[in-house]
Amino acid sequence: MAALENNMSELSRRRMIKTLGFGLSFAALPSFMRAEMTEVPMEALDHGERIIPVEEKDLIEIQKFVEDCVAANKETNAQEAVKEVLAKGVSNPSAMLKAIGEPTEAGLKVFLRSKELTIFAASWTPQMNLMPHNHRMWANIGIYTGREDNIIWKRSKSGLEANDVRCLFSGDVATLNENSIHSVTNPLQRFTGGLHIYGGDFFATERSQWDPETLDEGPSNGDVIKDIFRKANEQMLRMKND
Ligand SMILES: [Fe+2]
Repeated sequence: MAALENNMSELSRRRMIKTLGFGLSFAALPSFMRAEMTEVPMEALDHGERIIPVEEKDLIEIQKFVEDCVAANKETNAQEAVKEVLAKGVSNPSAMLKAIGEPTEAGLKVFLRSKELTIFAASWTPQMNLMPHNHRMWANIGIYTGREDNIIWKRSKSGLEANDVRCLFSGDVATLNENSIHSVTNPLQRFTGGLHIYGGDFFATERSQWDPETLDEGPSNGDVIKDIFRKANEQMLRMKND
């Protein structure tokens, strides 16, 4: 368990959101923001990841949370400080779900992208899987609806080995360090939604992913990720029509 605690630690509970004015200086902002307010073109956001458009009303709901994360990220132990904000945020999962919106498709709702911090809500369709991958920056995950099962992997002489497992339920928060490798499964017959926060520009960082069957390492490929989201949505539609 020590390895897990090193790799992934948990937290708890929360508070929520409501506010005014947008006083933050972001390198890039959600897609409805005017282009002149961003340093990075919004088209650059879509490195193959499935992006769900964020409506202004959604951002207003989540804005105070985003501001608190940005402020926490300036603290000495940024990941821990951001984790505290996230834990408060998902400690009332129904309020967070209301603020973000019920997931209806696999994808990412990006609330913030900057060089220092990325915040998005990731939604997994029923029983969706994501292959082992790394982030090359710290990551905090907080679940606000459903359940997300994580296998934590480690590199070994013979390749990648499963090292630990962590089941995250609604209200749970977990942390991954910059060297962590995990794969993700939604074991439920309904959607899972989680807030994912990264200590850097998630979309601009080259990463690795591992074939789920052979565990061969390859470069993180936006097209493959996009394909996973596309197939998950197609599978969901097929199941609905069956
Ligand atoms: Fe991940």
